Amino acid sequence: MADLSGKVALITGSGSGIGQGTAVRLARDGADICIAEIDLDGAEETASMVREFGRSAHIVRCNVASLEQVQSAADACVAELGSLDIAVANAGIGRGGSVLDMTLKDWQDQIDINLTGVFLTVQAAAQRMVAQGNGGRIVCISSLAALNTSQLMWSYSATKAGVAMMVRGWASELGPHGININAIGPGVIDTPLAHALAGDEGGPIRTQLEASTPLGRSGRPSDIAGLISFLVGPDADFMTGSYLLMDGGIRDARGQLVEEPDSPIGQERALHMQASQARNARLQPLIDQR
Ligand SMILES: NC(=O)c1ccc[n+]([C@@H]2O[C@H](COP(=O)([O-])OP(=O)(O)OC[C@H]3O[C@@H](n4cnc5c(N)ncnc54)[C@H](O)[C@@H]3O)[C@@H](O)[C@H]2O)c1
Repeated sequence: MADLSGKVALITGSGSGIGQGTAVRLARDGADICIAEIDLDGAEETASMVREFGRSAHIVRCNVASLEQVQSAADACVAELGSLDIAVANAGIGRGGSVLDMTLKDWQDQIDINLTGVFLTVQAAAQRMVAQGNGGRIVCISSLAALNTSQLMWSYSATKAGVAMMVRGWASELGPHGININAIGPGVIDTPLAHALAGDEGGPIRTQLEASTPLGRSGRPSDIAGLISFLVGPDADFMTGSYLLMDGGIRDARGQLVEEPDSPIGQERALHMQASQARNARLQPLIDQR
C-alpha cells in the first residue's frame, strides 16, 4: 500500500465506478481528494466515503469537455485542499453504435469527453504541478478497447487508443518536470458503464464473459484502483509513458458471445441496452451543460 499522506488527488468522474473506487483507495492510502464530476449526487456519495477514512474531500461541478470548468476545478483543488499532486483523468462515456447510423452528436460527445476531456485534465493538472515544482503523478484511463474493437465499439475504441498514444507523447515533455504519466487499459469492470455490455452477475452475458476470462471473473473498481495506487506511489518512480492492461486475461481469450436476438444473451443485451439508454438520458443534460 502506497503512503500518500500529504498528497492531494484530483479525480474526474469520481462519482461512480472506477473513479469512485479510486477516490476511496487513494483516501485509504492517505490522500485528500478533489472530486470533479457532473453528477453531484454521485460526488456526494464519494465524498462521504472519502471522509470515512478521515481524509478531506472537495466536490467541484466540472464537465471535462469544458476548458473553463477544468481550469476552475484545478484552481479549486489547490485553493481548497492546498495542492494538486496527483491527477486521474478518468471521466468517460461509451456510445456504441453502427457506422451506418451513429449520430454526429454521439460521436462528438465521446470525442469531447474521452479525448478532449483527458487532454484538458492533463493540461490543467500538469500546469499546476510544474508551477508547484515538486513533480507529480498522472494516470489516464484508456481501455482494453484501445487494442480490441468490434462493429459497435469502434468510435469508443478510437478515443481510447488516442488516450494511450497521447500519454506516450506527454511523457516525453513532462518527465523533465518530474511528472510521471501512465495509461491503464481496464477490461470489463463491473460499473454502471459496463452494465450494458456485461449485464448482471449470474446473467447469460456475464456468465459467458467470465467463462472466457482466464481469471474467471469480471474486474472490480478496486482492482483498477489498486493499480492506480501503485502508479501514483513511490514504487512507480521509474515508470512513465506506459499503457498497462488489466483485463483478467480476456484480451486473447475472448469467446465470441452468441447474440442472436432470440438467444438468452440477445434478450439480456436488449434489456441492458434499455437500462443504459435510460442512464444516458439522465446524464445527457449534465453533459450538455458546458
Ligand atoms: N467499466 C469498464 O468496463 C471500463 C473498461 C475500460 C475503460 N473504462 C473507462 O473507465 C472510466 C470510468 O468508467 P466507469 O466504468 O467507472 O463508468 P461510470 O459511468 O460508472 O463512471 C463514469 C463517471 O464519469 C462521469 N462523467 C461522465 N461524463 C463526464 C463529464 N463530461 N465530465 C465529468 N464527469 C463525467 C459520470 O457522471 C460518472 O460518474 C471511463 O473513462 C471508461 O471509458 C471502463
